[in-house]
Amino acid sequence: MKKLVYFLCLALLLVSLAIVIIVSLVISKNESLGDGLEFWQKGIIYQAYPRSLKDANRDGTGDLLGVTSKADYLASLGIGAVWLSPFFQSPMKDFGYDISNYTAVDPIFGTMADFEEMVQELHTRGLRVVLDFVPNHTSDQHEWFQRSQRREDPYTDYYVWADAKETDQAGLPLPPNNWLSVFRGSAWEWSEERGQFYYHQFLASQPDLNFRSDAVRKEMKKVLNFWMDKGVDGFRVDAVKHLFEVQDLSLDEPLTPGHLDPDDYNSLQHTYTSNQPENLDLVREWRALLDGRSEKVMMVEVFADTVEEVMKYYGSEEDPLADFPFNFFLIDNFHGRKDLSGESLMATVSLWLDNLPAGKWPNWVLGNHDNNRVSSRLGTDLIDALNMMALLLPGTPVTYYGEEIGMEDTFISWEDTKDPQGCRWGPEHYQEYSRDPARTPMQWDDTDLAGFTGSNTTWLPVNPNYTKVNVARQTAAATSHLKVYQQLAQLRREETFARGNTTFPVITKDVFSFMRTLEGSDDYLVVINTSEEEIKVDLLKDTTQTLPAEGTVVIRSVSDTSSATQPGCMVPLHALPLVGGEGLVLSLAEEDH
Ligand code: GLC
Repeated sequence: MKKLVYFLCLALLLVSLAIVIIVSLVISKNESLGDGLEFWQKGIIYQAYPRSLKDANRDGTGDLLGVTSKADYLASLGIGAVWLSPFFQSPMKDFGYDISNYTAVDPIFGTMADFEEMVQELHTRGLRVVLDFVPNHTSDQHEWFQRSQRREDPYTDYYVWADAKETDQAGLPLPPNNWLSVFRGSAWEWSEERGQFYYHQFLASQPDLNFRSDAVRKEMKKVLNFWMDKGVDGFRVDAVKHLFEVQDLSLDEPLTPGHLDPDDYNSLQHTYTSNQPENLDLVREWRALLDGRSEKVMMVEVFADTVEEVMKYYGSEEDPLADFPFNFFLIDNFHGRKDLSGESLMATVSLWLDNLPAGKWPNWVLGNHDNNRVSSRLGTDLIDALNMMALLLPGTPVTYYGEEIGMEDTFISWEDTKDPQGCRWGPEHYQEYSRDPARTPMQWDDTDLAGFTGSNTTWLPVNPNYTKVNVARQTAAATSHLKVYQQLAQLRREETFARGNTTFPVITKDVFSFMRTLEGSDDYLVVINTSEEEIKVDLLKDTTQTLPAEGTVVIRSVSDTSSATQPGCMVPLHALPLVGGEGLVLSLAEEDH
């Protein structure tokens, strides 16, 4: 009997030991799969502009059911999250960035049930859902504004109201100061009804909320909670630099020396209206709210004169604020091909990496709904190479819809122009400012209107290149921008890209290169030819780093058709052939050399 008990105890001990070993193996395996990182660090964020992704109800404008119908496609990209630009109730003066009800879906985009279905379908496929949060301003059609105009409490101080400074000779009221709207002209609009001016950083139909009011702060937290209760995984916060203005509304902003157009936003230096210290307090409040839930991302849209100013929005390890402010320098520093060289790319990449606060996570943005598309700014030959950079540098890439197939800007005539920013500059200058060219329908296939809609019109014209540049064609092709993107997204899941070191072995006028290395994992080298000419690069001569003699091609730009650089081929690092604008991803894994 004693023996039996002894054996039973021994067996129990052995079983428990085995369980402990198995569990710790599972845990360590998970850890080695990049865990400890959050979804927004592991996965690519994909910006879907809902008006233009896919139209399911055949009215020529994209909608939420359209997004749902493309859930499989989105999952096939290998991304981690979809960020949706605003689909809330809106008179659409600024295409949804003028919200008249923060917790309702605009009928153009569908219903709340459509939203819920979309979230479910995306979640089922492992994709997170990030919404656009637009706190700086509402629409003038918002009930809060209507009641604020009538001085109905508690709405009286929901907006930034000010008395006229004086009246002009004709007896008309003059604004309290010289502040300007981003969209041109005075940032003040007279309300007959209230007998005061209200402040609007954007259109007059987008009055700024007054965040000095506790009631407004509470309202906006309610909005965040509403959507988090619906299961969303975080927010992109709009126009954060504009949240606060100084309290003393009698202060004029200083003029920009030499600037001649007095209605242009850039003719003033925005000392009193942008990036005020109180903005950080507000971001801190939202951070705390999001941290009360599990794993929510907060990405903030900030522009500033200096990188240091932008970095403040990260906060610090002790005082975390946004998960990241968008890194717009790959847009702002690269308006055209003439701005591009290996050296200028290096300077811009370092600008972010060298100024990043301790423990914070970088991000890379090539384009969005406010800027010309990257392939039109820099050249279609660079599409794959730039995606290699954005997806394989350390940090989170933010992809604008269509970038994965190399969509280009679309010419939009003055008659077809819809963007208020374009419209306000008039027929002479609209092309310099209109954001419509980058917002045209997603190009799905080569059927009528690119397979975007079953209607015979679209809200903005489809790019005529859709017969060649479209998802169906690139899915069927043996090599395509889409396939390169998918391969990059897959490769990016390797531990080396999540945690590896980054070095820049060779930077010259024509070459940008970076290496990702991690002890115990494969090492990779990315080499980009920024010029339009074919070149042969000697990586061994021009570097101080120790590099192997050869590497194995893992991914290459579609423009390269040479047999020497086919994926799987070994290439010599002392004579690496690259066609114009080409990028090559090489594996330097031990077994390869
Ligand atoms: C942000 C948006 C832009 C919009 C503006 C006003 O900058 O990205 O599209 O026009 O805010 O809401």
